[in-house]
Amino acid sequence: MSLVSVIGRIKKERPANVGSTFHGINHWKRVHANGLKLCEYFNAAPEVIRYFAYLHDSCRLNEGIDPEHGSRAAMYIDELRDDIDLDDSQIKFLKRACSGHTHANPGAKAGLDLTLACCWNADRLDVDRVGITLDITQLFTKNAHDLTNILACKTKLHEF
Ligand SMILES: [Fe+2]
Ligand SMILES: [Fe+2]
Repeated sequence: MSLVSVIGRIKKERPANVGSTFHGINHWKRVHANGLKLCEYFNAAPEVIRYFAYLHDSCRLNEGIDPEHGSRAAMYIDELRDDIDLDDSQIKFLKRACSGHTHANPGAKAGLDLTLACCWNADRLDVDRVGITLDITQLFTKNAHDLTNILACKTKLHEF
């Protein structure tokens, strides 16, 4: 049971998703790095975000409009459950993070949860990979100070 074993299964079971130019493993790694930076800043637990990074886009059917891919990822988590070293409460958050990432908006109540907000911000900070300019009003943040630090996470990341 570990993230490594889950990534191994995704690679074996969903090779096309892993290899996706825009939504594949390179994006997942950036979301992972974004997420860890955000957790550090917000003093949030990183366990859920680590799995979110590699699962949230693992069930896309195409590279374009596919609004149900978050819900499919949440269902895929049930198949992977025995390989995921999270407790049942964390699994609930992981499923909510995956299912919600396709439609959550900053005005939604769910975004007030620190874990969900860090997951979704980590993903949105990498939106420029598909030629979309980051819209800071779509980030989940409390105030300008937080926002500055969130954007700093992105800047550091792109130095890789
Ligand atoms: Fe997605
Ligand atoms: Fe994503």
